[in-house]
Amino acid sequence: MNEWMTAVQARKWMKKNESFLPSWHAYVGAELDLFNEFEKATTVEAVSEKTGYPYDLLKSWVNVGVAINHLKKRPNHRYRSSKQKCSALMGDDSSPGVKALLKEIMELHIPTMLQYPEIMRSHERAQFDHERHGEVVAETSALLEHFAIKKIKKMIRDRKVTSIVDLGCGHGGYLRKLAAEFPEIKMTGVDINQKVMDRARILSEDYPNISFEAGDIKTWQPKDEEKPDVILLHNIFHYIHPDERQELLNHLHSYVKDEGLISVITPINETEQGEAFSSAFNSFFVAHSNLFALPDKKELQQISEDCHFNMFDLDPIVKEGSWYTFWLSPSAVVNEKEQTKRPETSDQTVPPENKRVTELTKTS
Ligand SMILES: C[S@@+](CC[C@H](N)C(=O)[O-])C[C@H]1O[C@@H](n2cnc3c(N)ncnc32)[C@H](O)[C@@H]1O
Repeated sequence: MNEWMTAVQARKWMKKNESFLPSWHAYVGAELDLFNEFEKATTVEAVSEKTGYPYDLLKSWVNVGVAINHLKKRPNHRYRSSKQKCSALMGDDSSPGVKALLKEIMELHIPTMLQYPEIMRSHERAQFDHERHGEVVAETSALLEHFAIKKIKKMIRDRKVTSIVDLGCGHGGYLRKLAAEFPEIKMTGVDINQKVMDRARILSEDYPNISFEAGDIKTWQPKDEEKPDVILLHNIFHYIHPDERQELLNHLHSYVKDEGLISVITPINETEQGEAFSSAFNSFFVAHSNLFALPDKKELQQISEDCHFNMFDLDPIVKEGSWYTFWLSPSAVVNEKEQTKRPETSDQTVPPENKRVTELTKTS
């Protein structure tokens, strides 16, 4: 390639890199609470003096912020955060979820992706540090609750549910959202990470019907005789080796009620909607020795069928992220509405002899 072409190509790649700046800038600002420091128009000197952060570094961060419209220039060398662009990172409204998302991308995903050459050369994968990153991952997962909870609540309203178990419950947000509407249902959250569990307990103090147990979902089962009506299995498949997923579903089949349901939420690999995101996400998982490739639709259909679960209502909840929800029913008995809503999975997952349409136990 001639020199001119090289320069043109280099320029092209340099420009492509610009899209990295907003995430970097937001991450630094969120970590150091700088968007709040610049909530009212102020000078870099004043913030540097107040916080003790070096003036030159702070000024560089401010300059980037102005260039990408995270900060606005005001008269007399003052700067102010853009509420329009950065409200999620400012004031009382600041969202722990958005901050956690930036933290996860910058401290977890990007460093792992940068290790790819070394991992590929050495064949030595990274080790996901549950202790260090468990809380941030639980926090970012919770961002999906908003999109998924309506469907779950609706399903529970239609049934006579007395107990719900959330496996790999993280901070327990699904259970709290459900407990607010169903205070009479017994709810149990199970998670392997003690730190995550402790936080879930604190956040759920005001909900007497929720309890938590530390445990491994591959072996955990309900203590008392009572089987759960509903199991939540949300964002957990990538923690389970593909060879162990079937075993896990068989284990759940052994204790969920016959007329019960399992709510599954998972990103799926290689789907039409969000290939860029799911392939990047997958690259992150497979770079670890203790995280695993996302399942694809075919795998989910196959293990559901092998474990005698009916899989239905496969819907994307965040299309561009390839995040899907679906239900697993251990019995062949599904109600009419669910039967008609069966997606493209239905024919492959339901053996013909199971295609019986009957009413499930109903409250009304
Ligand atoms: C990505 S978070 C999802 C949290 C929550 N279910 C949600 O969707 O918001 C996954 C959680 O599963 C927990 N986990 C992973 N493997 C587990 C296992 N074998 N047994 C129990 N919990 C596990 C992790 O500690 C983490 O809190």
